[in-house]
Amino acid sequence: MFEHDNEISNHSGNRPFEDIFRASLSRRSVLQRSALLSATGFMGAFVGESLLTKAASAMTHASSGTLVAQATGTPNPVIGFSPLTIAQATSRNPDENLPEPTISSDYQYDVLIPWGTSLQPGGASYNGNPNSRPTAAQQANQVGIGHDGMWFFPKNETSNTEGMLCVNHEYGTNPHVLGKAQPESLEDVRLSQHAHGVAVVAIKKESGKWQRVASNNSRRIHLNTTVAFSGPAANSELLKNKANNAPQGTLNNCANGYTPWGTYLTCEENFNGYFGVGPAGTWTASDRDRRYGVTSGGFGYGWEKFDPRFDLSNADYANERNRFGWVVEIDPMNASQTPVKRTALGRFKHEGIAVTVGKGGRAVGYMGDDERFDYCYKFVSQASWRSLRARNMSPLDHGTLYVAKFNENGTGEWLALNLSNPALKGKFKNQAELLVYTREAADLVGATPMDRPEWTTVGGNGHIFWAMTNNSRRTTTGPGSPQAPNPDGHILEMVDSDGHTGTRFTWTIPFIASETHGEGDERTFSSPDGLWADPDGRLFIETDGGQKKGLNDQLLVANPQTGEIRRLFAGPAGCEVTGVAITPDRRTMFINIQHPGDGNPAVSNFPVATNGVTIPRDATVVLTRKDGGIIGS
Ligand code: FEO
Ligand code: CA
Ligand code: CA
Ligand code: CA
Repeated sequence: MFEHDNEISNHSGNRPFEDIFRASLSRRSVLQRSALLSATGFMGAFVGESLLTKAASAMTHASSGTLVAQATGTPNPVIGFSPLTIAQATSRNPDENLPEPTISSDYQYDVLIPWGTSLQPGGASYNGNPNSRPTAAQQANQVGIGHDGMWFFPKNETSNTEGMLCVNHEYGTNPHVLGKAQPESLEDVRLSQHAHGVAVVAIKKESGKWQRVASNNSRRIHLNTTVAFSGPAANSELLKNKANNAPQGTLNNCANGYTPWGTYLTCEENFNGYFGVGPAGTWTASDRDRRYGVTSGGFGYGWEKFDPRFDLSNADYANERNRFGWVVEIDPMNASQTPVKRTALGRFKHEGIAVTVGKGGRAVGYMGDDERFDYCYKFVSQASWRSLRARNMSPLDHGTLYVAKFNENGTGEWLALNLSNPALKGKFKNQAELLVYTREAADLVGATPMDRPEWTTVGGNGHIFWAMTNNSRRTTTGPGSPQAPNPDGHILEMVDSDGHTGTRFTWTIPFIASETHGEGDERTFSSPDGLWADPDGRLFIETDGGQKKGLNDQLLVANPQTGEIRRLFAGPAGCEVTGVAITPDRRTMFINIQHPGDGNPAVSNFPVATNGVTIPRDATVVLTRKDGGIIGS
């Protein structure tokens, strides 16, 4: 999230790379290891039920033919489209970035559900008029702002033309949403709060065009929606307030995941920035607040001025901030379901979660904590997800949370975050306290500090990819972090053990962004953030900020085996390209344009044609190949 990560919250001193090995990884050793891993990785990745269950297959939209290919050979995907060149994606004026998207000549795009679109056809919509904004009540029934992670849940699990699109609404600044720097009333605060959260929207392809359609399943989930806690910390005093207010809302919903049982997972990232000290209050940050980046001013949203839940100085709401920073489960097919915060997955600045089915049918989720020098996590359910659900137990409530320790030699270990771990004995009263302060537990076991772990994705061959977006503060290289400083980021590839359930892994670095910056290198990208691996071995990379050569943020398609990268799409000036969802036939891809023009109509008026006036609106973009082919081919 844009400039809100200037702080470093991890002062644990976990810098094993400074103490153990200073040798930096040469590009050659990285590539050699990559070849080794791809030759040996299958056994570990495909033991057990793996992706071969019907449900998991439906959820990954993998055809049985693809699964055979996965089991017999190294994926060698075709990336055959004409790449969008730097010349096509940039302006001749070096001081100006293009205000509208550009796209490969083999593809076309359309716009869906911009900020302010009414959930149901016929409702009040906001159109970007600079002299007006939605009311708070209208916004609660409209698509939010800050489109980020999302997933498409096809009708009957198979439709390529109809289903529910779940979209995260990570954030919208006050100037963008309110048209002013600070809220002046509770109504203003409610408008801002209702613009955050998640939208569940019924969409359908009609007459060749995707649009939102009427549905009882469509709903908005925002800061004032009733939610529930589940898992080991659900009944903890640390999640209760003196005010006795019921748990409400989800916040700063960044990336996402989805489960084999058909639910959507939304991940709460920079929740800390929405708390502040109210006008008359005083407050001092504790060490625990500091570890989570909670400060007296927050990001300046000003909610605390009118809503006591977000006032750090109000003792009646002292634990409100502990209610955020979780992974939240949403049923996209039942608008009356209460969103559930799954505490077993830990509390940190959750970027996203990539769920796969591991050995014995266990649900396994890979999760990044996006902060400089924070960590990589995984969760493994205690038993097969089917058997747990058959006993009315959530696979996301029962299991083990691990944090990653990377070794210099390309191996690593998953360290359990529970009170059976000798390093954590006596450090927490119970598992609930440990989970509320997951970062502290991870510090204590000696996790490896990384370069801002953003999205995770599991490829068709079971390899896990992690976007390490950048880290300008890094002073020495180390395991998993090959550059210091690292202003442009890299992508890490991991092979887990024992069908995703083991405590050992191996890792390589298939892409270092700065190595694409040479003169004439058309692969140029920086700050990878969104990732999605398709079942054929293509890796879709979305970027967030700092592109070179006059490029706007972009979507690229890569082959981690060969290093090939082709640019598919570039967004409008000032935006971030994020979020990725796909229809089962992979002929339609949905991506998101977040904060086009950074909200400034002088920079971009997306999604309307450039006119210098209309407030730019975050929106979903629908990508199709002109010849109807598979996206990325
Ligand atoms: Fe919301 Fe780390 O991006
Ligand atoms: Ca971002
Ligand atoms: Ca992100
Ligand atoms: Ca980012």
